[in-house]
Amino acid sequence: MVVGAVACTTTTQSQPTNLGGSNGSSNGSSEETDPLALWSGCITSADFALTNFAAAWDGLETSEGFCKQCHVSPGSFQLPVGENNFFAAITTNRAVLGQFFRVDNSTTPAQIVVNVGTFQAVASGPSHPRFDLDNAGMTALDQLYQLALNHQQADQCGPPTLDN
Ligand code: HEC
Repeated sequence: MVVGAVACTTTTQSQPTNLGGSNGSSNGSSEETDPLALWSGCITSADFALTNFAAAWDGLETSEGFCKQCHVSPGSFQLPVGENNFFAAITTNRAVLGQFFRVDNSTTPAQIVVNVGTFQAVASGPSHPRFDLDNAGMTALDQLYQLALNHQQADQCGPPTLDN
């Protein structure tokens, strides 16, 4: 019948405009090549809740007490208090995001990996309270990483959310 109109597929190919639009909503062009900023848009509140991330880190202990007893203030390692605060911090504050994820520049393109190095550096002392690296916090971190990576690989991340 009037199927002829459907054959006009060339008009629907102007879709790259949509992609341009989502990039255009970010302020600086640097965000497009800033792996951590891009990664921030891959962390969803649903995944953050699903992995129990905030509670897992909240409950983490060492030989000398909970991590949060010593790590509530900004400056070095910081554990934001409460699920909403924690999610806001990890998605908007580069320092907090960087505590858990880092850019691995040894691959092309650069990729995001779990930042195990800083934890390994302190976990076995001697100038830091000891803790087991195989813990609930690291498990939640691995899970959040995998979920965010899935979004990234499926090209389903939101725009960058970092403020700094
Ligand atoms: C008794 C206090 C105390 C406890 C408990 C504690 N820390 Fe620390 N932590 C410190 C101090 C002091 C430093 C070194 C100074 C600094 O960087 O804040 C440090 C440093 C670190 C660093 C390195 C920060 C950097 O920028 O290099 C990490 C990561 C860290 N702690 C993680 C943890 C984790 C994870 C836990 C819980 C499993 C924990 N800490 C428990 C006191 C503590």
